[in-house]
Parts: sequence; C-alpha cells; structure tokens
Amino acid sequence: MMADRITKESVLNALSKVQEPELRKDLVTLNMIGDLEIKGDQVSFTIILTTPACPFKSRIENEARSAVLALPGVKSVQIKMDSSVPNDGRSRGLMQLPIRNAVAIASGKGGVGKSTVAVNVAVALAQAGARVGLLDADIYGPNIPTMMGVATLPPPTKEKLVPAEAYGVKMMSIGFLVKPDQPLIWRGPMLHSAIRQFLSDVEWGELDYLIVDLPPGTGDAALSLTQSLPLSGGIIVTLPQQVSLEDARRGMEMFRQLNVPVFGVVENMSYLELPDGSKMDIFGTGGGEQLAREGGVPFIGSIPIDTKVRVGGDLGKPVIVEDPESPAAVALRGIAEAVAAMISVAAIEKSSVIPITIIE
Ligand SMILES: Nc1ncnc2c1ncn2[C@@H]1O[C@H](COP(=O)(O)OP(=O)(O)OP(=O)(O)O)[C@@H](O)[C@H]1O
Ligand SMILES: [Mg+2]
Repeated sequence: MMADRITKESVLNALSKVQEPELRKDLVTLNMIGDLEIKGDQVSFTIILTTPACPFKSRIENEARSAVLALPGVKSVQIKMDSSVPNDGRSRGLMQLPIRNAVAIASGKGGVGKSTVAVNVAVALAQAGARVGLLDADIYGPNIPTMMGVATLPPPTKEKLVPAEAYGVKMMSIGFLVKPDQPLIWRGPMLHSAIRQFLSDVEWGELDYLIVDLPPGTGDAALSLTQSLPLSGGIIVTLPQQVSLEDARRGMEMFRQLNVPVFGVVENMSYLELPDGSKMDIFGTGGGEQLAREGGVPFIGSIPIDTKVRVGGDLGKPVIVEDPESPAAVALRGIAEAVAAMISVAAIEKSSVIPITIIE
C-alpha cells in the first residue's frame, strides 16, 4: 500500500481544528503556525503564542500534536514553542515608545499590596521570557528599588537615563534619584513632568510589557501617566474587607474616567494558611469577587497572606524568585499569566493586524 502523502494543507487543516482557549479562535486563523515542514512521515512546525507567559502553553502544544498525529501517515511531530507579543495599538501612544503593552496597578487604598503585585507580576513575566519594564509611578513613596533589591541606576548615556535591572526586569523609580530619607514634595506640574520623563528620557528599549505601580489614591499620577502613555488596561488590588472595597471602587472609577479598560480585580491577603492546612480569613472573605461582579470585570485571583511575601519585599527578593512553589508565589504567577492572556485578547480584538504571517 502506498503511504499517504502528507501535505501542508492537510496539516494546516488539522491545526485549524485546534483552538486557542483564551482567544477563542483556531491556531491557523490566528496565524500562530510557522516554519511548517514535512519530511517523509515527520512533521515539524513552530507555534507562535501571543505571550511567553501563556497559561495554556502545554495544552495547546498537546492538542496540536494530537491533531497532527491523527493524520494518516504521520509518524512524528516536532513542535517548537515561541511567542510574539502583539501590540495593542494604544501603548505606542503620544511618545512613540517601543512599548507593546502597558498595564497599571492601582487600588485606591494604600498598603494593600499594589507594589508587591507589580513586582512579582513583572518578574513572573520576565521569567517566562518576556521583555519587561517596571515603572514606579509612586513618586511620593517609591518602594520598587527596595522590593527589587537595587539602589542605584547604571551610568546614563549622553541622552538618556539607563534603567536599573534585576531578575530580568528593567525598572525606573524616583527612588534611584533621591536620597532615601529625603522628603518628596511635589507640585502638580513637577509630578507630571517626572512621570513624562520616566517614559521619554529613559532608555527602555523594546518592551513586551511595561508594568506601572501607581501610588495609593485616585490622583494625579494616573492622569499624568495616561496622558503620556495610553494604557492597555488597569488592575485593581483590594483586600477582602468592605472598607478596602470602598476605596477600590474609587480606583475602578478612576480607570473608567481615564478611559482605561479594567482588566480585573486581584484580592490580596485573602487568607492565612494555618499549620494544620486550614485557612483563616483575617480580613474577611469574598470582597474581591464581589467588587469584580459589581464592576462587571473578571476576578483575576487571590493571594494568601504569607510572611515570605513581606520578607521578600523588605529584602529585595520577590517571593516568586525566593520561594517559587509557595502558595503566594503560585497565586502571583497565575495572576501574571492571566493578565498576559487578557492583554493578548485585548490586543488581538483591537487589531485586525495579526503579529506574524504564515510561512507557506
Ligand atoms: N500577601 C501578602 N502577605 C504578606 N505580606 C504582604 C502581602 N502582600 C503585601 N504584603 C506586605 O504588605 C506591605 C504593603 O504592601 P505593598 O507595599 O505592596 O502595598 P502598596 O499597596 O503598594 O502600598 P502603598 O499604597 O503604600 O504603595 C508590604 O510590607 C508587603 O511586603
Ligand atoms: Mg506601593
């Protein structure tokens, strides 16, 4: 019997039955297949994801493999996983920065864990292989340098400041430019120009994601930021209890007024895991989900209280690096992946231009 001839068409046809779960389209329609080659009974191709932090990476790979292996005559399938983060078309913004997607983390209330989420999400995305920047827009109480364990910037170039770098993340903070105990008194226009300069006068290079840590409150920093760099979306961090929710609602309203899509709500310090494995709700329960429901936005995830999170923040060793399998780190990584997926969905929906073209 003659062996079935495998054609590119038949392989692509099989792959067009495999869905990207988040984008809800098939891999071929999304132009996610590249380098397709057929050698006898062996098929090889690359799957180009829209983020290296794709939460469905292995599921997509497995389904693609099974689909192609099911074709008559195929003996082996070699898949290379790659990624190309799409540009949402907003973040290029007024300054023409090579930043593909910018996401701001806000809360309304202080001390709920915005900076902690910003730092760990940034590091998680960098660990997945993305090019990530972290902008400390909290110019009154900059915490990013301490939390990332860096005190100074590298020497500047002739034209621009060079961002500091740790754990694969480039970062900029007013904390690098002033002495630690120097009080920071800003007037509106100064704040505005500081944030603008952090975007225009810093050599960020190409970034897939810029994570922005906003100060508490619903104020000027967010406004300055959105005037300089249109954001792909915002994330609201809250504690589970009611008083935190009231402030978080204002945070959500702020994004709406600034025309920034709200990606969703993260609940921090959700519970404490006791030595016997049971969970204790220190700050109440369910607040984050309630807020998300009210606002009609997704609930992204909850992070338990863990001393390691606080210690990691103080020592400049993010928990996601120090104890990657701890429940808090697992939760933070899940949040990073969910946010990356939301960015991809938003970018793909916004642009009919798809990041790469198929090689046929
Ligand atoms: N899940 C957690 N478990 C234990 N400690 C945490 C957790 N999340 C945050 N913390 C600690 O709580 C403190 C406040 O967190 P963080 O600085 O991230 O909040 P913030 O919202 O950025 O505050 P601010 O409004 O002052 O900028 C920090 O010391 C941090 O290490
Ligand atoms: Mg903070």
